[in-house]
Amino acid sequence: MTSVTGKECCAADRRIPAFVTDNPVRRFLAPPTKLVSRFLSGGEVAVDLGCGPGFHTLEMARRVGPNGKVYAVDFDRGAIEKLSRKAKRLGCSNVEAHVSSAADVGFVLSSSVDFVLAGGLLCCMADHAGALGEIRRILKPGGSAYLSVTRTFVRRGRMGVDGEEWRRTLEGFRVVEKGSGLAGRWAVVALDGTAVEGGRAKR
Ligand SMILES: C[S@@+](CC[C@H](N)C(=O)[O-])C[C@H]1O[C@@H](n2cnc3c(N)ncnc32)[C@H](O)[C@@H]1O
Repeated sequence: MTSVTGKECCAADRRIPAFVTDNPVRRFLAPPTKLVSRFLSGGEVAVDLGCGPGFHTLEMARRVGPNGKVYAVDFDRGAIEKLSRKAKRLGCSNVEAHVSSAADVGFVLSSSVDFVLAGGLLCCMADHAGALGEIRRILKPGGSAYLSVTRTFVRRGRMGVDGEEWRRTLEGFRVVEKGSGLAGRWAVVALDGTAVEGGRAKR
């Protein structure tokens, strides 16, 4: 069942209008299936941290199938409600949506998650350490996470992630793959000590 739970939080963090994160141009240039298909397969558990209205979430739900589960988390209640309506319409009963800070996802069991997507999250929130701590807590050994930050917000207060902070962030993980471009930086990471094979951590 799709459920919306949680409480308001993170007053200073950045909400992004739905048309910015989910629009035909983005779907054409960076279709969600392209990213998601690399990391997920049937029966797995995934978390979309800072999911917005669900650009990747519904594709994640399709990939993990009825035996898998996707936790969708955003502090923006409007985005979560939008995502939940879409999930209901499409019959995605394997999505559990929460209005919550990415820095406090206590409803996800420790070491239970195969894949965490945190696309564009850190540069929209202040508590980077909190969110990264939760990612480390919930990932299974052998699980992986995709982190990305945009350059647009680098200089704006505590939310921006500059090159030095990005380097320190990646030090907390085993880096499977990383890259950067005009828009920002991204990395596929696994827990330290996890064997790595191809684009994802090895089970
Ligand atoms: C740039 S958008 C990316 C949305 C989505 N990951 C995507 O790729 O389409 C960043 C998202 O992070 C959410 N966000 C900001 N601060 C947050 C926090 N403390 N906890 C959870 N989500 C947060 C925003 O509401 C927004 O939906």
